[in-house]
Amino acid sequence: MVETVQWTADGVVLIDQTRLPREIEYVTCKTYQEVAVAIKDMIVRGAPAIGVTAAMGVALGMLHSDGADPDAEIERIIDTLARTRPTAVNLFWALDRMRVVYLSVKGRPITDIRQRLVDEAVLIKAEDIAINEAMGQHGAALVPNGRTVLTHCNAGALATAGYGTALGVIRAAVASGKQIDVFADETRPFLQGARLTAWELQQDGIPVTLITDNMAGHFMKTGRIGCVVVGADRIAANGDVANKIGTYSVAVLAKENGVPFYVAAPISTIDLKLASGDEIPIEERAASEVTRVGGVEVAPDGIAVANPAFDVTPHRYVTGIITERGVARAPYTESLATLVNQPAT
Ligand code: MRU
Repeated sequence: MVETVQWTADGVVLIDQTRLPREIEYVTCKTYQEVAVAIKDMIVRGAPAIGVTAAMGVALGMLHSDGADPDAEIERIIDTLARTRPTAVNLFWALDRMRVVYLSVKGRPITDIRQRLVDEAVLIKAEDIAINEAMGQHGAALVPNGRTVLTHCNAGALATAGYGTALGVIRAAVASGKQIDVFADETRPFLQGARLTAWELQQDGIPVTLITDNMAGHFMKTGRIGCVVVGADRIAANGDVANKIGTYSVAVLAKENGVPFYVAAPISTIDLKLASGDEIPIEERAASEVTRVGGVEVAPDGIAVANPAFDVTPHRYVTGIITERGVARAPYTESLATLVNQPAT
């Protein structure tokens, strides 16, 4: 199994997801600024993985600070990391958690503060893996035996500290003995499905078939797909789900064809501060991601391009939201609030 993000004596080590699956290269970020660039450039991506990496970025930054004014230093580090990608709330959740930890030890010797921040970042990583495994247990029962699961983007070990959210549900279903296979949408423009999900499942020996995004409707209509499972970058209080661009189309097609549409995400992805998905900021990325395929220009020079990296699926299309604390169902305003406010065990 790959290590998506690691805390080491040299810095934060990331598998370079821009080069997968052709090359397995690791990048060592030695400063918090390098961590910020790695998040922005999608060397690491996926909401939970971004959160874990940002937490380690805070620890790394404080480790290398001169300790003269830790209050100012930690705010500078957090601010830099917060400006990387706007949609996945796990980034802001992790940064807030690191700030709270800092405030709890503020005033103590700088060596103690640094150690506490490193411990917390390492803990966030370990917790994320355990959360994904718990999510897998809750979600596995929902996957119909003997059928095909459709997924979009990559919500696997590469998008988390390990095991995955949507792919965690698939892994747990396979581990429970279910005979399933997976259809992976290629997920233009960044091709997380073709490059990452297809590779990850192939490595695990889980049967996977790659399709282009525009084939999903055909396979739902012809009865091939038993259910859809995707991840999420932010879930509003009413159950609206922001996830990789194209998820909304998949959800509408699923409803039209009577295919259950599940979202698997940790509690840290639920943002009760936002009443609906209309308030979720959607990242706009570079035009070159759309005009190029595999580094080759395919569009005319000077063409106007739109490249929203995420879309919002209204809650009415969502059959259930699988979390580490159980499965939320409509009405989501009540079920999500109950799960979020439940004390962690
Ligand atoms: O732009 P990305 O690759 O960071 O987008 C990732 C997704 O949209 C994932 O589906 C989401 O973060 C869930 S990952 C467990």
